[in-house]
Amino acid sequence: MDKDTVPKHIAFIMDGNGRWAKARHMPRKYGHKNGVDAMKRVIGACARMGIEIISIYAFSTENWTRPQDEIDELFNLVKRFADKELAQYASDNYRVRFMGDLSALPQDVQNSLDKITAAVKYNSGPIINIGLNYGARDEIVRAVNSLIDGGAKAVSASDLAAKLDTRDMCDPDVIVRSAGEKRLSNFMLWQAAYSEFIFIDDYWPDFTEETVERIVREYNGRERRYGGLKKA
Ligand code: IPE
Ligand code: IPE
Ligand code: MG
Repeated sequence: MDKDTVPKHIAFIMDGNGRWAKARHMPRKYGHKNGVDAMKRVIGACARMGIEIISIYAFSTENWTRPQDEIDELFNLVKRFADKELAQYASDNYRVRFMGDLSALPQDVQNSLDKITAAVKYNSGPIINIGLNYGARDEIVRAVNSLIDGGAKAVSASDLAAKLDTRDMCDPDVIVRSAGEKRLSNFMLWQAAYSEFIFIDDYWPDFTEETVERIVREYNGRERRYGGLKKA
């Protein structure tokens, strides 16, 4: 695929791990485990196509309302993914970023994420941006409080954007959600202002390189007008 035709920033709202497992009469954690494998396939496909920023919504500020054993399982997977896959991406020159309030995560997970953040410090490759305890309302409130702490009395849109967790990234060109759900669930509310939305019926663990190609083709058929007029 031509580098000019791929989005610069693609964001994924992973959904349907539980339903994927249920359809196989398996526990939800089996769906999450296969969801991690799908993440690897999707990140690999995006990077091979030349997409520069890959955002993934992995755990929302609302996901704390799930049963504690599911939360524990999800953070076990996050820690394992950080220690193995993210460490490998780090040595392959990827940049890895996290968005969300990481201070609420289990301490051993925070330690693993800190190690990755240190390891990618001088990297210059594609950005993998993972939302953990991420909620867009929380992100905006943290940004506003940070501006207030800095003595701000009035702020501009760019002042606020500069305090968001995505401060060094462009807005997502396209936001993809799996499993047929058509909502943002508190994901990138500010950054989504002009994003294209693509909804895929497949459950997240079924995503493959071919799914990513399908998404990019669909994105290429969209006309982005940003409030202007259709090109003649
Ligand atoms: C997505 O799959 C993973 C997370 C939100 C952490 P779900 O766990 O939401 O799967 P469904 O929606 O119950 O099928
Ligand atoms: C959205 O999925 C959150 C993440 C992908 C981390 P959910 O499954 O939590 O969203 P809702 O509850 O269906 O809106
Ligand atoms: Mg869900």
